[in-house]
Amino acid sequence: MRTQVGIVGAGPAGLMLSHLLHLAGIESVVLECRSRQYIEDRVRAGVLEQGTVDLLIETGVGERLQREGLRHDGVWFSFGGRRRHIGFPELTGGSGIVVYAQQEVVKDLVQARVAAGGQIVFEVEELSVHDLDSKLPKIRYKKDGVAQELICDFIAGCDGFHGITRPSVPAGVIAVYERIYPFAWLGILAEAAPTSDELVYTYHERGFALFSMRSQQVTRLYLQCTPDEDLSQWPDDRIWEELCKRLSTQDGWAPGVGPVLQKGVTGMRSFVIEPMQYGRLFLAGDAAHIVPPTGAKGLNLAVSDVRVLSQALEAFYKSGREDLLGQYSANCLRRIWKVQRFSWWMTSMLHLFPGADGFDHRRQLAELDYVTSSRAGMTTVAENYVGLPLD
Ligand code: FAD
Ligand code: PHB
Repeated sequence: MRTQVGIVGAGPAGLMLSHLLHLAGIESVVLECRSRQYIEDRVRAGVLEQGTVDLLIETGVGERLQREGLRHDGVWFSFGGRRRHIGFPELTGGSGIVVYAQQEVVKDLVQARVAAGGQIVFEVEELSVHDLDSKLPKIRYKKDGVAQELICDFIAGCDGFHGITRPSVPAGVIAVYERIYPFAWLGILAEAAPTSDELVYTYHERGFALFSMRSQQVTRLYLQCTPDEDLSQWPDDRIWEELCKRLSTQDGWAPGVGPVLQKGVTGMRSFVIEPMQYGRLFLAGDAAHIVPPTGAKGLNLAVSDVRVLSQALEAFYKSGREDLLGQYSANCLRRIWKVQRFSWWMTSMLHLFPGADGFDHRRQLAELDYVTSSRAGMTTVAENYVGLPLD
């Protein structure tokens, strides 16, 4: 088999890349180790930046998002038992965010690719990449037990943090910059109508908590826990009790309680590789970087990487230009590091660190007080949260 761009991974990065390339007249094949059902049910992110929303709409995959997504014009920060609001449009020249589940974005993209005759091969096994430093890199894999080879002009490694494309780059080529946090998030999806129209990020002496949502009927909540937290120690009643302690405010606001539909623990890390390219392999999304979820940026960064990559590939196929491909990594990394900084800052400001003392507690409260009362502070949160402009 032969294609122009072989894409490993059908997450938001791989699917969006395939979609953008198709619109530019470039052929691709997406290879995914999981089933279609699995990737369409996987519960993950929920917050889309303004630029992500605009791109999905402009490229014809935003119809359901516009109908079902929840537009938010602000966010709450809660600390010391009180909530403070930061409004987005007035601080950013009209931007906001949309809450629309990642698996819905995935469903919309899969549907668009299938409708356009695009090739997504699900449930591939033993995938490996070869001849990355040649002009004809190859992907080998098995489908239904039969060995296959896909010969490509380029390979896009969109296979997430635990994928195989990044480890296929020879040792010494890539530098890793990493921070692992001493806590994790216990997240639940609950059948309970949201009691706030907007997200509530909470700093509490018992630890961080986040109130989010998926629809008018479903709430998404997280609480800070230890990285090795044992879920069996967290029956639903205990989760609700802890969430209510951390989230409830003095004005009587509290989350609505209901049946827990799903629960899980997510580790927290910051991770960046440099460069994001080796020969004709280009890494994008979580394969190249991880942000702690506090800034709600992972999916958005994946989309901005593949936008840059699709433009570089388009310049190559339309006018033989290789300069944009050569600049891919540097162009992406400028945005990635700004987003890393924001995600690290939000994480540091809102979590309880082991060993923190009274000084740390008062410093964190003062920082929250500042960023929710000064126009400069609020603008910093708002412009990063809705997404920095694309260069
Ligand atoms: P992935 O979504 O990980 O996709 C990679 C794909 O590659 C997967 O389908 C995988 O099955 C496939 N794959 C892996 N290995 C192979 C292989 N060897 N062969 C073939 N296929 C392979 N981000 C936000 O922007 N906002 C949020 O609110 C947010 N909240 C989050 C909450 C949680 C609990 C979690 C876990 C993440 C959250 N994120 C959020 C991050 C976001 O989900 C990720 O950044 C995003 O999924 C990255 O997309 P991706 O396509 O790069 O990688
Ligand atoms: C979510 O709704 O899943 C969510 C929202 C905001 C975050 C992280 C996750 O920062």
